Amino acid sequence: MHDKNGDGHGHGNAEYQWNLFDSESYFQHYYSDPHPDDKLVMRHAVEALKAAEPAGDLDIVDVGTGPNLIPFFCALGRAKRLTAWEYAATNVDWIKRELDTDDMRPQWQTYWAWAREAYGPDWTLPANPIPELREKCTVTQGSVFDLPARTWDAATMFFCAESITERQDEFEAACAAFARSVKPGGTLAAAFLVRSGGYVVADRPFPVLKLSPETIERVFKQHASDVKAELIGIVEREVRSGYSGFIFLTGTAT
Ligand SMILES: C[S@@+](CC[C@H](N)C(=O)[O-])C[C@H]1O[C@@H](n2cnc3c(N)ncnc32)[C@H](O)[C@@H]1O
Repeated sequence: MHDKNGDGHGHGNAEYQWNLFDSESYFQHYYSDPHPDDKLVMRHAVEALKAAEPAGDLDIVDVGTGPNLIPFFCALGRAKRLTAWEYAATNVDWIKRELDTDDMRPQWQTYWAWAREAYGPDWTLPANPIPELREKCTVTQGSVFDLPARTWDAATMFFCAESITERQDEFEAACAAFARSVKPGGTLAAAFLVRSGGYVVADRPFPVLKLSPETIERVFKQHASDVKAELIGIVEREVRSGYSGFIFLTGTAT
């Protein structure tokens, strides 16, 4: 099932069983043990959103949210509305269930504390973000390839475009759709995996495309200005399967 050559000609998004994606297994594997690299990703995302234009509350989309509230935690300080645009029905249900109860898992308490720290003392953020998230969030089942154009003020994407396909053309189409979903002048912030050879969730294989900051900058320069892609959090050993560091992208939609 893997693009052994890493040449971008492997399996496409439609060839994976997204509707059998085991949300709880994924959460347990990737987020049950908060890692310093998660904190770094969050800091980068919050910094980008804090600086996002226009001033005031924004309508923000997160693409491929998966079983993860971190994107919402990063966006809450700037959000008047939040949309999770997620493809797998299992993940859509999982996110809705997480937002249904005010009792945060201990992990969410840690991640939320990191988000508040990243925003800093000048921001008034609630001790428990879940009630406000429930008010502001819409969870939509949809594909990145079907995102409406020029709709949101800002967009985030964490480990999605490179983790849904082995095909370079699909990766570029996903990035283009992500970038175009934002109104001109809006902020784009996204994290991508590097040096990874695919990932497994509850015994099912899922893809990862190999990337460099140069590739990401080349792709985003077609849709955005002020494009910056930085290698961050690279570790010498794999701390979680399928993960060995990330690239953080920021840009302004054109
Ligand atoms: C590696 S997971 C990342 C999840 C989460 N954003 C995170 O940071 O852990 C990839 C996500 O992309 C979603 N996905 C797969 N195909 C997609 C598509 N065509 N459009 C949007 N999301 C998709 C999967 O269901 C999954 O939630």
